[in-house]
Amino acid sequence: MLVVAGVSLRFDHPVCGSYFFGKTRKLKFAATESLILDNESFYLTIEMTIAIGCDHAGVELKKDIISLLDDLHIGYVDYGTDSSESVDYPDFGEKVSNDVSTGKIEKGILICGTGIGMSIVANKFPGIRASLCNELFTAKMSRLHNDANILVIGGRIVGKDLAKEIVKTWVSTPFEGERHSRRIEKISRIEDRLKKHGV
Ligand code: RB5
Repeated sequence: MLVVAGVSLRFDHPVCGSYFFGKTRKLKFAATESLILDNESFYLTIEMTIAIGCDHAGVELKKDIISLLDDLHIGYVDYGTDSSESVDYPDFGEKVSNDVSTGKIEKGILICGTGIGMSIVANKFPGIRASLCNELFTAKMSRLHNDANILVIGGRIVGKDLAKEIVKTWVSTPFEGERHSRRIEKISRIEDRLKKHGV
């Protein structure tokens, strides 16, 4: 089950054309790619959205962060997990990181116990710059200097109020560019070289 909220939606249909809808409230989908209406397939385009996922150790904090995103009118797609039943963080880290890496979704938030496991998973993906931010200064710098596209938080380390401040700071801080762009391009070139060597 995928939950989408607060995003602008466009439905494309080969005969009827495109329909634009305003910001949604909560919609639930059984599939990530398409929605069936009146036996027709409508494709869903999600604009400016955050992919959010966690393991069992991050499930409570994820709820708090989702309610903050609702308050800030920031769209999100919730990739689970949804209960405190023990799961493996790589399964959820992979889903979020893959969709940010392929450009399907602009940014991501991942939560596990320490934030370490999710960071390791996310940073395996091309183009992902995941930053583990358990305090505010790192959250700010990871956007200003590193153009971080996935924020990772340790659900067993950071309390709800601080986590909300971290998310607010992270989503509202722009990338500074200039010399930092050169450094990020160097990271991309490392990825290209590793790809060439089949790594
Ligand atoms: C789960 O117990 C825990 O290992 C996980 O949430 C995370 O902290 C891994 O890095």
